[in-house]
Amino acid sequence: MARAKIALIGAGQIGGTLALLAGLKELGDVVLFDVAEGIPQGKGLDIAEASPVLGFDAKLVGTNGYEAIEGADVVIVTAGVPRKPGMSRSDLLDINLKVMGQVGAGIKQYAPNAFVICITNPLDAMVWALQKACGLPVEKVVGMAGVLDSARFRYFLADEFNVSVEDVTAFVLGGHGDDMVPLVRYSGVAGIPLPDLVKMGWTTQEKVDSIVERTRKGGGEIVNLLKTGSAFYAPAASAIEMATSYLRDKKRLLPCAAFLTGQYGIDGLYLGVPVIIGAKGVERIVEIELDSSEQAMLDKSIASVQELVAECKKIVPSLG
Ligand code: APR
Repeated sequence: MARAKIALIGAGQIGGTLALLAGLKELGDVVLFDVAEGIPQGKGLDIAEASPVLGFDAKLVGTNGYEAIEGADVVIVTAGVPRKPGMSRSDLLDINLKVMGQVGAGIKQYAPNAFVICITNPLDAMVWALQKACGLPVEKVVGMAGVLDSARFRYFLADEFNVSVEDVTAFVLGGHGDDMVPLVRYSGVAGIPLPDLVKMGWTTQEKVDSIVERTRKGGGEIVNLLKTGSAFYAPAASAIEMATSYLRDKKRLLPCAAFLTGQYGIDGLYLGVPVIIGAKGVERIVEIELDSSEQAMLDKSIASVQELVAECKKIVPSLG
């Protein structure tokens, strides 16, 4: 069977890491697309030259033309600009909405059957705009945020308990912002929920609260350290996990930004929720039971995403 084709739109920090991981995991051939000349070509060649040493077979091609993504099975979008000092939120939205318009048109023309994963921030609004621009079915267009936020939560918990990260599960719902909802009751070690671990004396409620807070601010913590950029290893790894579940029909249950049509009481909005990803894309949206405080936190997060999308509609009325 022919290898799968993975198109990476944006060959910056995350795009380059995605290409390396896709190669290492032998997910398929990789096309790196970017508007910057030479960058996708250079990164593609550099990673291809690493393949004999690392021992994987994949073609890696860099391009500045959308035609090279023709027939892609998976498209992962990181194209856009980060927020720079002095740039308002609507300046950022204005630029990245235009980028989503261009990228969406490219996908519509050359990769209409792909599974599309958006990473560009602000995530919940950009994935919404990208789906509108490319016109692909909503179950084939998702946003990557929850896997990353949950991975951060899992890492902090594994570190606190001094146990393997493999045994820690964690769930984060809602938008990809400071008011995301890390779900303490649904997180734990090898099936033991966090509240039980507190009762068992493994940790304290205060420590759990501080880990929840650190998870919420996880993106900012990395930005403060790097100063000139944002996280890229963990975001890339998270999107590769989603792509793998699609390409291998693994039916993983992963928190992703998915288009809701009534679930969690929301219609017509992308929001971070647990979904099953298989060969058909988002095959199922899982509605878990929330208690009143969890629901209140989710409502706050929903309001932030709604506000963001309303701002996008103001900037590009045709998206409404
Ligand atoms: N089409 C294609 N690529 C574009 C376009 C466009 N219209 N506009 C910008 N780009 C490219 C840039 O040339 C750059 O190479 O997108 C790339 C973005 O890469 P980085 O700036 O290195 O950003 P990165 O760290 O990879 O993050 C990408 O993901 O997590 C989010 O907030 C982050 O929105 C950001 C995105």
